[in-house]
Amino acid sequence: MSVESQIAISLHAVAAMLWVGGIFFAYRVLRPSAMMLEPTDRVQLWQKVFRRFFVWVWLFIGLIVISGYWLIMKDFGGLEQTPLYLKVMSGIGWLMVIVFAWLFFGPYAKFNIRIEQYELAEAGQIMNGQMRPLIALNLMLGTIEFIIGATGAYWPI
Ligand code: HEM
Repeated sequence: MSVESQIAISLHAVAAMLWVGGIFFAYRVLRPSAMMLEPTDRVQLWQKVFRRFFVWVWLFIGLIVISGYWLIMKDFGGLEQTPLYLKVMSGIGWLMVIVFAWLFFGPYAKFNIRIEQYELAEAGQIMNGQMRPLIALNLMLGTIEFIIGATGAYWPI
């Protein structure tokens, strides 16, 4: 493997780790811990958490997509030749990007408007009812991506 490919796979793996690890931390660790706060404080905490994390997520998405297709073109003979596990990985990868974009431009935009208007109860409802299922979905898809990344090269097909 060339040095360029080693850099690309490193960027790919690190960006994927930080994206999915970040979701795991938010969903499984911070969320239950933040329950001890008053609802008004909690929703404002989440606004700050999302604002910081989502900037990183766009960066991770850019790195993952560019490095992933770069590797497919350089090391796997292009889109036509690429093995099944990488077709599955890129398919699920795009699904994750769509889910995140949907979250970002849909419920998260509405959440921010509610916060600006200091309608914190409504913001909390959007977070729990609309944002949380999408975040849980991407945690599940991201976990599947890691299993594919770790095992795909050994698939018999
Ligand atoms: C968007 C389209 C994507 C493309 C085109 C793509 C492509 C690739 C390629 C070419 C490899 C190298 C496979 C090998 O060396 O056997 C790889 C590995 C991997 N990918 Fe992706 N990928 C994408 C999305 C994702 C996403 C969204 C995640 C997780 C969030 C992810 C996680 C991984 C992991 C964990 C590996 C294994 C890294 C390692 O060998 O250490 N990928 N991917």
